[in-house]
Amino acid sequence: TGLVTLDPGFTNTAACTSEITYIDGAAGILRYRGYPIEELAKSSTFLEVAYLLINGELPDPDTFERFERRIGRHRLLHEDFRSFFTSFPSSGHPMAILQAGIAGLATYYEDTLNPHDPYETELATVLLLSKMPTMISYIARRAIGLPLLYPDPKRGYVEDFLNMTFGMPYQASDIDPTVVRALDMLLILHADHEQNCSTSTVRLVGSSDANLYASVAAGVGALSGPLHGGANEAVLRMLDRIQSEGMSTTEFVRKVKNKEDGVRLMGFGHRVYKNYDPRAALVKETAHEVLARLGSKDGDRKLEIAMELEEVALSDDYFISRSLYPNVDFYTGLIYQAMGFPTKMFTPLFALGRLPGWIAQYREMMSDPAKRIGRPRQVYTGEVERHYVAMHRRK
Ligand code: CMC
Repeated sequence: TGLVTLDPGFTNTAACTSEITYIDGAAGILRYRGYPIEELAKSSTFLEVAYLLINGELPDPDTFERFERRIGRHRLLHEDFRSFFTSFPSSGHPMAILQAGIAGLATYYEDTLNPHDPYETELATVLLLSKMPTMISYIARRAIGLPLLYPDPKRGYVEDFLNMTFGMPYQASDIDPTVVRALDMLLILHADHEQNCSTSTVRLVGSSDANLYASVAAGVGALSGPLHGGANEAVLRMLDRIQSEGMSTTEFVRKVKNKEDGVRLMGFGHRVYKNYDPRAALVKETAHEVLARLGSKDGDRKLEIAMELEEVALSDDYFISRSLYPNVDFYTGLIYQAMGFPTKMFTPLFALGRLPGWIAQYREMMSDPAKRIGRPRQVYTGEVERHYVAMHRRK
């Protein structure tokens, strides 16, 4: 069967061609469909970026209005499905519930499962984009025992998500536009990142012609790990630990360098960026803005610790020689916490942001004439051949 090349972690193996996202890791450049991330973060909205990633072009005003209205109409979950969210232990991790819920959507929409039918795929796309915020808000509400709120199509996408998560049933809530804008921007920053672990997972699962829900659910599973999307939660736990143990940042960085108990500086390092992650720079700016507006003493103290950690790390040879810089997850948790999200809800927010990227990449693969089922090879290192020994003859 010929020679195979061993490439653990796929550091040098391209599994597809793609027109969606461009990263220059050495220069710290990120572009969606050619548009610099800084321009999109400043001037666009998450839904517009979702449209851009999935369809390849920015929408004209009419097209965008239709897209937005269509997504607004589908935000409700099937009434039976609401009870799904109250069937897990209330302390259960939101990513586990989200993964199961997304896979379960396939059971309600059986006429949207054919990946080669453009109409079905478009509907599955709209249903996922519409329903995921509702699902995440239900998971958050259920965890603290608050009643689940219905979506309100009169509110914007991000505003309604915040209302379903934090609003009360007995009064119309005013959601702070600064918070809406900040969350919208964070979702834009997470929207795609070419062939990262979860996106590659979505493609691999979809390569068997598995439906979009099954593929995205697998992506959620991949994202949950602390080396990937779970890092935003891990960063906050790290800051909590430094704060509560009264440890100095230099002492913590020393532990990291000595690899004591395998502790890493969470929110630092990246497979592709060997320079400052351009998303981290934008998040850091927003962290200052949001904390200044909503700030608690605790949030301010944690931001100080994070900035100190960054400073200590970036002047240390261990981090310099390995090109380890803050990544997108380093400052996001501080913002989510200031907005009122519990730590366990941080990674579902990443999943919501990454959803358009997963969908865009799945659809690009499905329409690629070069698509084949993903099937990596291996280098076998086990026993060559041996012969079965009856149980009673074994010692
Ligand atoms: N703290 C301390 N040392 C680190 C870190 C870190 N955060 N990241 C990498 N290193 C060291 C690592 O120990 C190794 O050094 P040595 O050769 O002496 O053993 C060297 O840097 C290379 O690391 P690697 O693990 O081979 O790099 P990788 O490309 O396989 O892993 C990574 C990339 C992001 C998983 C890793 O940097 C990491 O674990 N970072 C912390 C978790 C994190 O913040 N993840 C979020 C990534 S960005 C958003 C996302 O994808 O979700």
